Amino acid sequence: MKPTRDATEPGPRPGPADFGMPMPAAGAFSNPARPLRELAGPPGWPLLGHLPILDRRRLQQQLEHWAGTHGPLYRLQLGRRPVLVVADHQLAQDVMRRRPQRVLRSPTTRRVCQELGVDGLFMSEGERWQALRRLTVRAFTPEMLRGFHPRMLTIGQRWRERWVRALQAGRQPDLARDLPRFSLEVGVALAMGVDLGAGTAPGQAQAGAGSLQLQADIEFLIGQVWRRINATVPLWRWFKTAPERAVDAAITRVRQALLPIIEQARAHRAAQPEAAPRHLLDALLIAQARPEAGERPVELTDEQLVRLLTELVFAGEDTSAHSLAWLMSLASRHPGAWQQLQTEIAQACPPEGPDYDSLRRLPYAEALIQESQRLKPVISLLMFQSAEDQVVGGVLVPKGAGLMTLNRYSALRQGPEDRHDFRPERWLTLDGQAPCASSMPFGAGARTCPGRYAALLQMKTLLALMAPVLDLLPTQVPLPEEVMEVTLRPATLDLRWRLRGATA
Ligand code: HEM
Repeated sequence: MKPTRDATEPGPRPGPADFGMPMPAAGAFSNPARPLRELAGPPGWPLLGHLPILDRRRLQQQLEHWAGTHGPLYRLQLGRRPVLVVADHQLAQDVMRRRPQRVLRSPTTRRVCQELGVDGLFMSEGERWQALRRLTVRAFTPEMLRGFHPRMLTIGQRWRERWVRALQAGRQPDLARDLPRFSLEVGVALAMGVDLGAGTAPGQAQAGAGSLQLQADIEFLIGQVWRRINATVPLWRWFKTAPERAVDAAITRVRQALLPIIEQARAHRAAQPEAAPRHLLDALLIAQARPEAGERPVELTDEQLVRLLTELVFAGEDTSAHSLAWLMSLASRHPGAWQQLQTEIAQACPPEGPDYDSLRRLPYAEALIQESQRLKPVISLLMFQSAEDQVVGGVLVPKGAGLMTLNRYSALRQGPEDRHDFRPERWLTLDGQAPCASSMPFGAGARTCPGRYAALLQMKTLLALMAPVLDLLPTQVPLPEEVMEVTLRPATLDLRWRLRGATA
């Protein structure tokens, strides 16, 4: 089959200036097309290629290091599959924009997630993806987020109260443990309106056993994703050991917990068809019942909804929690950052708590988020499969070959002298121009993250709740190491807090 033309060819294309610095033309890597097998790459093993030398925990750094040695386009061999690694951000964006038709998600990730009962938008392709994407994007409306925000606030206030009580008792709050839990509670409430932590505030009765079980099962299943993606041989497909049977049992329990929730949401919608949506399930049912002009209605069985909702919870949990963890780690090393946030929150948010509208007027909080995501994007290694023979940056990639994009690489390699520094101020530009076009923490193209506004709202809500009552103490200790587990998380979280107004 004749390969499709490289979108970056024939030559230089005007690209956005990165920090005002000229970027290498995307076409610089093209013309004439070289076969992927001839491209340079790190030395690998016979038969297994690079599989035995991949450092799973430090994969991001390892792949970025190899880009430094072999250039922004290099080759890996993962068993029988050749892979083109793309570290240049313009080429990475080009690859991501070839979706959904010419570039597909990695089949390994898809299969592993589908087996874990996670099978919605992220995992689908073709017409099914198009239908689900339309539906999901229509569900993430500002109206839905506004309707949901009071519940997000309640969850945040509950966690803040715990942290305040810990400090009053002379203990440091354990945010490495608590941020993923906070994020999971927000994710489940956002996806289907269930507050897993209801009744667990200090001094109140414990949450129902069902909620605790659902929380434990979801946390457990999220932990299985990276383990299974990295398994050299997927043994669980042939025989089930006790741990693998535990995985199946958790999948079944999640399904059993979600089915009645979906039934209730359908009943609520039928009883009050005009009520404003308060969570994603609600909004999905509305979008499904009212297709836009010219659209075919999307069929979604309860089973499919279970898998879609599970995926939405998975997609938002570690991503939001670890983004917050990095932000706080970076802010504690940047003199004055937390104080500036405190000043902004005091001026913009009502004393009784940050409401939806006040959170839209927080330029400094947004700059903190953007700058921390530029340096520590929690998902910046994306894995794809080529759906056809095609040319990427002058390299002929055969159908079925892998494509990996290293979405952070350019942001750290090109630009001004201070590009390695955490400087939120660089985002406070008056002309509205993004100062760093190579930063893409939410992906690019038709499959960018549909949950990004929910994630930003969640991050700003927590910051606006914490800043008025907690001081983040500065530290000189170097930043924690990066650990890869689907998302890029800090190896430790050495934050120190103090009640505002208290002396050291
Ligand atoms: C800070 C938090 C988050 C980050 C950094 C993040 C990042 C990303 C990235 C990089 C992608 C891949 C984009 C691509 O392939 O081009 C993605 C996809 C996706 N995200 Fe997020 N995400 C976050 C939060 C969320 C939340 C809260 C939800 C839902 C509640 C969500 C739902 C999804 C879904 C469904 C996709 C797949 C989209 C598709 O394939 O069409 N994400 N996200």
